[in-house]
Amino acid sequence: MAFTAEKEALVVDSWNAIKADAAELGLKFFLRIFEITPSASGLFPFLRDTSVPLEKNPKLKRHAMSVFAMTCEAAVQLRKLGRVILKETTIKHFGATHAKAGITGEHFELMRYALLETIREAVPYMWSPKMRNAWAESYDQLVEAIKKEMRPVA
Ligand code: HEM
Repeated sequence: MAFTAEKEALVVDSWNAIKADAAELGLKFFLRIFEITPSASGLFPFLRDTSVPLEKNPKLKRHAMSVFAMTCEAAVQLRKLGRVILKETTIKHFGATHAKAGITGEHFELMRYALLETIREAVPYMWSPKMRNAWAESYDQLVEAIKKEMRPVA
């Protein structure tokens, strides 16, 4: 089914409404992930053996920001091009990093749930089943594109 301008707007408008608070949201997002699956924190090399508290870790915020912003970009691409194209410069490094870190389909599922919950809680006054579906579809297509780049590293 086509990714319509309406779906794009549902994602982009809600993202624009909350992106100024992205750092705080990013933290909530990861706390949600680690609450459901505590072992997931062990996947992030920068969280192991560090005395920096979670909420002050710049790399965690950066990762959360990438997920939010890339899902939003995916919505724009889906409407314009009908598919998600990852930037050439990030592709290799990015795909290899996830494969090397041992990220599986279950981790992407977990992140999907946490992402939708975080956005829902951030914009309760805008939230609707249509908005949920637009974010979910954008995320799913983005993850498909990432998974294609996640061939095992030689
Ligand atoms: C690294 C984005 C899903 C764990 C990265 C990087 C980006 C990114 C941009 C930095 C790549 C680099 O420069 O090496 C995304 C996006 C995702 C996603 C857009 C989903 C749409 C996940 C999931 C997990 C995960 C589900 C695990 C729960 C990691 C880890 C690293 C990483 C462990 C390496 C961090 C490091 O070594 O410093 N991700 N990611 N990612 N990601 Fe993701």
